[in-house]
Amino acid sequence: MKHKVKLSRRQLLIFASSTMVTSPLIALAGKQSIDIHVVKNPQCGCCNAWIKILKDQGFNVTTEDRSGSLLAEFKIVNGIPKNMMSCHTAKIGDYFIEGHVPVSDIRRLTAERPDALGLAVPAMPYGSPGMGPEEKREAYDVFLVMNDGAAQVFQHYPQAGIPV
Ligand code: CU
Ligand code: CU
Repeated sequence: MKHKVKLSRRQLLIFASSTMVTSPLIALAGKQSIDIHVVKNPQCGCCNAWIKILKDQGFNVTTEDRSGSLLAEFKIVNGIPKNMMSCHTAKIGDYFIEGHVPVSDIRRLTAERPDALGLAVPAMPYGSPGMGPEEKREAYDVFLVMNDGAAQVFQHYPQAGIPV
């Protein structure tokens, strides 16, 4: 059992006293503090912006600087397809989190625990977390990368300001 659940007294109380929860496991996973290890280029400012968002949301973040080919190698070793690559590569247990993936999608991954390799936001879309204002977001997708390397859309983010 690799899944580590750390709960504070307060979180347990909130959980125990909640009567509105229809899916207790998902609600619980949404509250736990998630350990995430981020491997990044030391010169990358947007990586730090993304890391700050995670920390502000209560993630336990550890970081590791690797440059150029060592970072690329880490991506390949972790099964990240070329067309899914971005700047930083993070790990939560066996899952990878590649690029500027929103917190809500990371929480959903750890709650649902699909049989897959991880999540990726390829390249660095403008307006994704750590990449500039969300009000000016360009459309992008978060992909779930399956064990065979195939990717499917996990969450679509439309361009900001376009009525749905
Ligand atoms: Cu970046
Ligand atoms: Cu980055």
